[in-house]
Amino acid sequence: MRQMREKPRKATVLMAIRRRIHKKHICVVFLGMTTFLIYLISESRNPETLELGQPQWDDPGPYHVAYPRNYKFIMDDTPVCKSRDPFLLLMVVVAPADVAARDVIRKTWAKEKVVLGQMVDILFLMGLPTGAHAEQQQQKLQAENQQNHDMIQSNFEDSTYNLTIKTMVMMEWLAANCQKTTFVMKVDCDIFLNVQNLVKHLLDPSTAKQNYVTGLVIENRPVLRNPYIRFYMPREIVAEPVYPPYPLGTAYVMSLDVAVNILTVSREVKPINIVDVYLGMCLKHLNVSPINSPEAYTFVKDTIHPLSNCSLSKTVAVATVDTTMMMNYWKKSKDPETKC
Ligand SMILES: *[C@@H]1O[C@H](CO)[C@@H](O)[C@H](O)[C@H]1NC(C)=O
Ligand SMILES: *[C@@H]1O[C@H](CO)[C@@H](O)[C@H](O)[C@H]1NC(C)=O
Repeated sequence: MRQMREKPRKATVLMAIRRRIHKKHICVVFLGMTTFLIYLISESRNPETLELGQPQWDDPGPYHVAYPRNYKFIMDDTPVCKSRDPFLLLMVVVAPADVAARDVIRKTWAKEKVVLGQMVDILFLMGLPTGAHAEQQQQKLQAENQQNHDMIQSNFEDSTYNLTIKTMVMMEWLAANCQKTTFVMKVDCDIFLNVQNLVKHLLDPSTAKQNYVTGLVIENRPVLRNPYIRFYMPREIVAEPVYPPYPLGTAYVMSLDVAVNILTVSREVKPINIVDVYLGMCLKHLNVSPINSPEAYTFVKDTIHPLSNCSLSKTVAVATVDTTMMMNYWKKSKDPETKC
């Protein structure tokens, strides 16, 4: 009897527990639906974004970069890629203020427009000047471009932090204008470029004309987990212990299709603030492996200056310390006595 009486009591207790669990479930479902509704409402507030199917990454935090894809080119009157299609386009990424760097490049390695029978063009890419004299600087930039018609400028604020935006904006411009160009080289403004060596390499039958990326390729670079150092990257952002291979951002070459594909795939790869690594992530997504140059002196970042005659005659890109060195290397590279 006792047992019989206890049984129904046990059952009621169980039912009560079950009911509580059930209530909890309803709560969870309700919460989930509310969250989803709030999400829908916030999304619909941004109809343009929805329409274009662009990813919405709110609050990028310190490691991601907001790249909303709504920057516009406010200086874009160059004939390059519009009324002529170069074989190789040299895209110099430069700070708005760095007029000295642009001038020395114009006087040196950007001078020749036909190299080994191929048309080579150059453009300087920048964002908006910032700071106290921004407006004045902008007027100077416009005057500089009126003389040269070799500058393109997007309306994001130009800064070191915004380099990922700068690179992606470059891909946007290339995809929109340059699809008849075979190769593009992204190059920093302190790089001495031996254009002839570069074109020779690109014309070589062994060089692929598609799915091609080359430069100083960094492989198996560990992700830095020390929060007190520059380039710290938390596990929540990048879980892998090493970064995918990437060409060093100071100077790399790619076939035009890769630039277009990077832009496409970047919708699926959340931008991070280390632009070189971000490029590597996009390339990995595309299944494109950047190819390291077989010659040590092709792409040089850090070196002991001055380069020997032999190295200089083999180099494609080398970082210089000032404009005088840029000028000297260029003059030497034109001298037939500079050889191995
Ligand atoms: C990056 O550019 C955006 C868009 O112009 C700007 O709002 C932001 O302040 C810039 N960030 C830095 C750190 O310069
Ligand atoms: C290096 O090249 C320069 C010309 O740029 C030439 O005058 C000089 O003799 C060369 N030096 C050597 C060691 O060959």
